[in-house]
Amino acid sequence: MPKRLRPPRSLELSEPEFRGMVEASVDRLELFLRDLPHRPMHHMDGAQRLVRSLREPWPEAGVPFRRLLGTLFERVIPFGLNTAGSGYLAYIPGGGLVHAGVADLIANVTNRYVGIWQAAPGLVQLETNVIRWFAELVGLPPGSGGLLTTGGSLANLAAVVAARHDRLGDRFDDGVVYVSELVHHSVFKAARVAGFRADQVRSIPVDEAFRLDVVRLREAIRADREAGLRPAMVVASAGTTATGAVDPLPVLADLCAAESLWLHVDGAYGGFFQLTARGRAALAGIERADSVTLDPHKGLFLPYGTGCILVRDLGKLRAAHQITASYLPVGEQDPDCWDFADLGPELSRDNRGLRVWIPLKMHGASGFRAQLDEKLDLAEAACARLRELPQLEIVAPPDLSLFAFRVRADLPGSGDPLTRRLAKRVNAKNRVIVTGVEVHGRWLLRVCVLSFRTHAADLAAFHEDVVAALAED
Ligand SMILES: Cc1ncc(COP(=O)(O)O)c(C=O)c1O
Repeated sequence: MPKRLRPPRSLELSEPEFRGMVEASVDRLELFLRDLPHRPMHHMDGAQRLVRSLREPWPEAGVPFRRLLGTLFERVIPFGLNTAGSGYLAYIPGGGLVHAGVADLIANVTNRYVGIWQAAPGLVQLETNVIRWFAELVGLPPGSGGLLTTGGSLANLAAVVAARHDRLGDRFDDGVVYVSELVHHSVFKAARVAGFRADQVRSIPVDEAFRLDVVRLREAIRADREAGLRPAMVVASAGTTATGAVDPLPVLADLCAAESLWLHVDGAYGGFFQLTARGRAALAGIERADSVTLDPHKGLFLPYGTGCILVRDLGKLRAAHQITASYLPVGEQDPDCWDFADLGPELSRDNRGLRVWIPLKMHGASGFRAQLDEKLDLAEAACARLRELPQLEIVAPPDLSLFAFRVRADLPGSGDPLTRRLAKRVNAKNRVIVTGVEVHGRWLLRVCVLSFRTHAADLAAFHEDVVAALAED
């Protein structure tokens, strides 16, 4: 064979190489998981030095995998927030079920293409099953459906795009979107990316329980109609990020029905509590939404990168996104066989379904329900214990598993600086981590209990650290 036609060095792993890589990774991961309860919740000392040392030129020759594993586990991964740890009560915790990591290994090594049904009918069906289960959980009717996204932000974007297309058509510079002032900022971002100007998004005040104020919303809609504008969509939250409040979904559903507005419910944080009886009571009305965002990488404890948009009428999501090309196969005609590429902006994408399907099949709904019920109990009990501390004021008790509190403003030194200092002191102990938020000019500390690794011992550590921090004065 002429020299230039000889194949280059193979990129394929031999069987022993593959097994060796997986086994070496599993060895490291086992140690990581064993060590997790003892790891600090945040580690930033020397982070600047680390990142400078990690900058590197494009590699020309290869290095052994074990050396890379050493770099990852000894130098790279330990820095930053310990988002996989049980003491992570900050922002909205995720978790990172290990089953999903194994699912991703299978999905990535088999590398089947799930963008269109014909390319991997079986895998597309498993992903479709997961989406159908979610739609059923929310209470959406037959004809509903959706798409797994990378997270809640892109699910909210899909909802805004579908609502805009359905209610306003191609010319929408007189359309208006209504959100609560505490809606997640991804909704403002979604509106901008979807082509709305900032002045087309009305930020409606919340009431004293931090829920969207329906009286103010009605007034805003009336004023916009009188001004010749076209109200199009209301975004409600099934658990806000700031205080965990669930907006009044039944009243909003009535209003949207009367006004022909698209109702989107952002359930990125709270949606999966629908698995529990208490969650279903708190989220009543969600089944009347035109679209719902769920975030399996929050309420189902999956690794980051898994969100979901559900739409009451799947045809509307498709109508907003579908464009065909002659180099693609003819789209699937069977309404039960979905081409995911027609439902969102992505053509090629990762196989997100398997990392949801495998843990759900292995634990069943009951396994997740029990975990979520425990999170509701933990939040309620932790909030009740804080209420007994005379220095603190509970500002937002939990609607679900998130609550907010502050140092009482009538204490010397004023509430805000003391609350910030309390957060700093608690986080410095490095057993748990909490974050704050400013609402109506007041700084609040929030606790969000959502990781499958968080149990009573973590909330006990949190309480001890709050008490100790308050005693430091
Ligand atoms: C209520 C709510 N909506 C949307 C999002 C955005 O989700 P993601 O970070 O998955 O894009 C978040 C994130 O915390 C959230 O809490």
